[in-house]
Amino acid sequence: MRMVDIIDKKRHCQELTPEELQFFVDGVCNGTIPDYQTSALLMAIYFQDMTDQERADLTMKMMQSGDHLDLSSIDGIKVDKHSTGGVGDKISLPLAAVVAATGIPVPMISGRGLGHTGGTLDKLEAIPGYQVELSEQDFIQQVAQEKLAIIGATGDIAPADKKIYALRDVTDTVDSIPLIASSIMSKKIAAGTDALVIDVKTGAGAFMKTLDESVALAKALVAIGKGVGLKCLAVISDMNQPLGYKIGNSLEIEESIDVLKGKGPADVTELMLTLGSYMVVLGEKAPNEKVARQLLEEAISSGKALDRFKAMIKAQGGDVRVIDDYTIMPQAQYQIELPAQQNGVVAQIKADEIGVASMLLGGGRQKAEDQLDYSVGIELHKKVGDAVQTGESLLTIYSNRKDVSDIKELLYQNITIAEQAAKKPMIYQIVD
Ligand code: URA
Repeated sequence: MRMVDIIDKKRHCQELTPEELQFFVDGVCNGTIPDYQTSALLMAIYFQDMTDQERADLTMKMMQSGDHLDLSSIDGIKVDKHSTGGVGDKISLPLAAVVAATGIPVPMISGRGLGHTGGTLDKLEAIPGYQVELSEQDFIQQVAQEKLAIIGATGDIAPADKKIYALRDVTDTVDSIPLIASSIMSKKIAAGTDALVIDVKTGAGAFMKTLDESVALAKALVAIGKGVGLKCLAVISDMNQPLGYKIGNSLEIEESIDVLKGKGPADVTELMLTLGSYMVVLGEKAPNEKVARQLLEEAISSGKALDRFKAMIKAQGGDVRVIDDYTIMPQAQYQIELPAQQNGVVAQIKADEIGVASMLLGGGRQKAEDQLDYSVGIELHKKVGDAVQTGESLLTIYSNRKDVSDIKELLYQNITIAEQAAKKPMIYQIVD
């Protein structure tokens, strides 16, 4: 078999066989296919797409390129959630705890942030002592005992995806539905969960900017999952403006704990309850979403969800005083307000650029090896649809540098105040 023939076939929009995809994935992993040929195939896939069969085959070959977890020793239906990524998206943190409080085991393997999106592991590391690296055995034991754990990948999960993703990043082939779907699902299938709810973001801060593209991605993800016997569905949710009010690592832990105390922002709470209801139904703890939602609301009001979050922090070496004292996390030296320059209604807060602002303050990474400053970020005071007066603060910038004029300029450019605003829904569609 020759890689050049595989590229040629895809360039002419023909279906690749499982053997050809195996040859490709093997060659990527063992280095026998040079990056320029891999990149050429990725570009051909970008333009010519893949059939459902090719998507499923590529996913399984990438999944089989590395380790996979066996969670069968944990009783019950294990349910996980994956998000395609957004700004201010701290949902995994309260969601894992509230679902675990209903008795469902939630084994979450999360990632780090890159570019304008944050990463769950980075947020958790803002809690002093929290360990994101557990052995497979400790992970399994913790999920069995406490019903939840949030960790980084154990072993070498889908190494083919790591190499392919790095090349996609520099060849402008990231936003391809077959490539995103196979990348995400190869890792999720390797993580050994029984059921999966996928939060597919749509809008300015998402990979998929339009609803049509987001629905197509959701369908691709669900088809791959169901094809391998995973119980799964996707929720399409808004990522035009940031989720919640707080963006940044320590700040997002604060907001997550607020949600678990029943005093979180309405949008974060709503998304958590929606995703959670589907997780509880897939986990067979409720016959329908309505009953599931009641279970989750009770878990919040009784304090059981907060208790699960505390148990997870303790089990993973974190300082549980954080539940009542947010100041034990790194705190920024300066808090700088951004006053509105005109009267009106907030019409747009571009999620991706707010994420960039937080990254430039030090809260995110421009390169994988960048060190994070957990204390910095942005706290919005206004969301889309809110009225604002000239001089009133739109947001607070948490910074460790005094001069944030560059950040202020970026923020002003990406927040629109107008005479009126069209509010977007939080949840657009369910794909199952
Ligand atoms: N997340 C992934 O893991 N892979 C992609 O391709 C995009 C988002």
